[in-house]
Amino acid sequence: MTPELTLDPEDWEKLKTLGHEMLDDMLNHLRDIRKQPVWQQIPNKVKSEFNVPIPIEGQDRKSIYKEFKENILPFPLGNIHPRFWGWVVGSGTPFGILAEMLTATMNTNVAGGEQIANYVETQVIEWAKEMLGYDLGASGLLVSGASIANLIGLTVARNSKANYDIVKNGVQSSKKNLSFYGSTEMHGSIDKTIQLLGLGLNSLKKIAVDKKFEIRLDILRDTIEADINAGNQPICIIGNAGTVNTGSVDDLNALAEIAKEFGMWFHVDGAFGTWCKLSPKSKNIVDGIEQADSIAFDFHKWMYINYDVACVLVRNRKDHADAFHFVGDYTTHLKRGTGSGEIWFSDYGPQLSRGFRALKIWMTIKENGIKKLGDLIEQNIQQAKYLTEIIKNDKKLEILTPTKMNIVNFRYNNESLDVDNLNKLNEEILYQVQEKGIAVPSNTIINGNFAIRVAITNHRTKKEDLEVLINSILDIAEKLC
Ligand SMILES: Cc1ncc(COP(=O)(O)O)c(C=O)c1O
Repeated sequence: MTPELTLDPEDWEKLKTLGHEMLDDMLNHLRDIRKQPVWQQIPNKVKSEFNVPIPIEGQDRKSIYKEFKENILPFPLGNIHPRFWGWVVGSGTPFGILAEMLTATMNTNVAGGEQIANYVETQVIEWAKEMLGYDLGASGLLVSGASIANLIGLTVARNSKANYDIVKNGVQSSKKNLSFYGSTEMHGSIDKTIQLLGLGLNSLKKIAVDKKFEIRLDILRDTIEADINAGNQPICIIGNAGTVNTGSVDDLNALAEIAKEFGMWFHVDGAFGTWCKLSPKSKNIVDGIEQADSIAFDFHKWMYINYDVACVLVRNRKDHADAFHFVGDYTTHLKRGTGSGEIWFSDYGPQLSRGFRALKIWMTIKENGIKKLGDLIEQNIQQAKYLTEIIKNDKKLEILTPTKMNIVNFRYNNESLDVDNLNKLNEEILYQVQEKGIAVPSNTIINGNFAIRVAITNHRTKKEDLEVLINSILDIAEKLC
């Protein structure tokens, strides 16, 4: 008789031995990460290993792990390294690795039902509200990233302010154009959301910013009034608590007031800036965030939690559930047994099957306490200020934006070059810093200037790492000029 199949190992002891080896290797890898290049170009030979026919028969686990060590582990984005400051990417923690293993072992689906993962996620959401000083009656949901958190917040905004049953009738039944407002510095996930909501990008009114890259309140007000006069329907103001380009923060209290005055929803995209709230010294930077009707923020950026996890909070629980609640015959919530339980997270977002993202947050917060996490956030802010000072004190370097929190934009300046050549020079400097494996800043454009951009959401960074970056940039630039 053919034995019945399973994916469990025949020899558990052999798998355990390999598992222990993997765990030791990975913790050693992280311990010694400073000695590694931050990033390196992937050789074509390695890339070609990922363009092969699908295996028909299984392979030896040890050889698969060997391939991982040779062809995968050495070629990451680089964000676990102390000198990674590109885009806004978090660094994760060693305990987070272990948490992910525990999560994978439980391998649960956190749609709902009577299971402990629901209570852990609820606990994490309660802690989030407490940390932000937010309405304790609010609902919340863990999602994959702030992009999805924005999508959920703005879906609830659209549905609850549309003045007609959008769930039943859809956006096409509106005679009025539903308008959303935010600054030109809004993250691209807002554009994507507006498209997904079926509104079209013309419904997203991008308001100019001032010199501090904060939304111009006078223009916002004029635009809303003009829209009303034109027969459009203002739905929502989106405030930035930490823009991706510069880390600027809109006047959130003023935005809350304007939203109230016009009967609009107030959503805050606080993907990373939200966490200033944890630092007693810097929490005032995001004053007013607690007035939002909904907030989107990441745990995987500036809370250092392993990828991927973010959160959306919605003040009005009913509005939130109304946008997503759906019970099929096959998911009827029962009174007892596995299908009971008060909490069905699938009622608060588009996903039915969901991973247990809460465990790594719960474990990391318990491991460190929020005081230490707040101190680390403040440390990153102080590091950004330190870097800003170094740049300001060197005539060859130029700061391009004010440093409000953890983002520094600057360039190498050579007065004999015009803008185009200066942009090309700084682009080349960036390539070389990355290709030499020294550091990974990223890039943006500030008023037409190519900027080298450092965003510090890294608990491994030390001030001396920032000195390494600057010395390398000066060195590379000298050779290029
Ligand atoms: C301000 C802001 N909003 C939203 C996002 C999107 O977040 P995620 O990449 O977690 O989806 C980012 C990402 O950098 C961001 O900086």
